Amino acid sequence: MFRAKSGAESVATPTVQRPPAEVLHADELAELAKKDRDPKPPGWRLSLRAVRRFIAGEPEKDRPAKLMVPLSLIDRCMVTLASGRGLLLVGEPGTAKSLLSELLTAAISGSSALTVQGGASTTEDQIKYGWNYALLLNEGPSPRALVPGPILTAMREGQIARFEEITRCPAEVQDSLLSILSERVLMVPELEGDHSTIYAKPGFNLIATANTRDRGVNEMSSALKRRFAFETVFPISSLEDELALVKREAARLLKQSGVDLTPPDDVIEVLVASFRELRQGLDAEGGGMERLSTVLSTAEAVSVAHSVGLRGYYLRGDAGQASDIVEALAGTAVKDNAEDLKKLRRYLEQRVGKRTGSAWRAFYEARHLLPSA
Ligand SMILES: Nc1ncnc2c1ncn2[C@@H]1O[C@H](COP(=O)(O)OP(=O)(O)OP(=O)(O)O)[C@@H](O)[C@H]1O
Ligand SMILES: [Mg+2]
Repeated sequence: MFRAKSGAESVATPTVQRPPAEVLHADELAELAKKDRDPKPPGWRLSLRAVRRFIAGEPEKDRPAKLMVPLSLIDRCMVTLASGRGLLLVGEPGTAKSLLSELLTAAISGSSALTVQGGASTTEDQIKYGWNYALLLNEGPSPRALVPGPILTAMREGQIARFEEITRCPAEVQDSLLSILSERVLMVPELEGDHSTIYAKPGFNLIATANTRDRGVNEMSSALKRRFAFETVFPISSLEDELALVKREAARLLKQSGVDLTPPDDVIEVLVASFRELRQGLDAEGGGMERLSTVLSTAEAVSVAHSVGLRGYYLRGDAGQASDIVEALAGTAVKDNAEDLKKLRRYLEQRVGKRTGSAWRAFYEARHLLPSA
């Protein structure tokens, strides 16, 4: 019988919860840079071909893809970034838009940290610059007193800045990007002479992300839309790819949580298959069914698989069971919608009830664990 390890012998855990991509993959990036003989756009650390190898992996070298997206999407994103337009990644929540922007900036600029997190309270200061008030009071506006925001730093250094959830920002804040994206210059009227104009160095550009469930991109001003090339990121289309990804990511996250086990394959299969059915509104037999209004994205599937493993290991001392999916689903699928709970219950009763296989049976048997509506 498996026994939970005591603290002293537990699995080695990293010292930070989530290192950025350039730290996590530092060795690989260094190796790619060393061998890179292909042409690079001005300001880029790697060629487009090397960036593509970094993101899409090299199966012959046993390096899996870091992202399951079509190669053509990676190529189009890079070409946009090498051009004079910003890149806007749009799509459903949890389709790895943020991860794609992180990997691109880490590979192209060596840092994914120049990031503005968009939200209702984002101000122009966070995008452009603010002031160190102590210095400002003492010596008036001076280059020393200027506190650059991520985008200004990216312009000065010739790097790519990220703007997460851009459509959640107030319109006037979004529009402060207009001159940055078209003239590639930022004015600091408070400073004098040469210091008042900051020109972007080669390599500077912007990757923004927006998710279609939030206030939509159609509310962006058309002037700003014109300065971006739009790329839609779709959920992973192949079941095998999604399964492999959920397995791999769940194993990685579990390891970080001190768990050296992964939920059994048949449990992950039930999890991924049911998420896909509920997401697409189509069951495995090809019949139409109700879709949940909550997005059951791949990212959610990864996080449910992680919880399944945690429940198994820490609560019982096993690797996770199909009944844990039901427990974890309740908080995922019905977050903001009681209707979804009913749909989920009907799915378990009517579809899952007919399936064979021990994991599907256990999933069905656990349906009473759903909270009552
Ligand atoms: N195509 C994919 N390839 C690799 N990982 C994926 C893919 N789709 C989803 N994931 C998983 O989703 C996780 C994170 O998704 P991410 O936060 O980047 O999504 P997002 O599109 O930015 O979501 P949101 O709109 O909610 O911000 C990844 O860490 C990965 O585990
Ligand atoms: Mg995101």
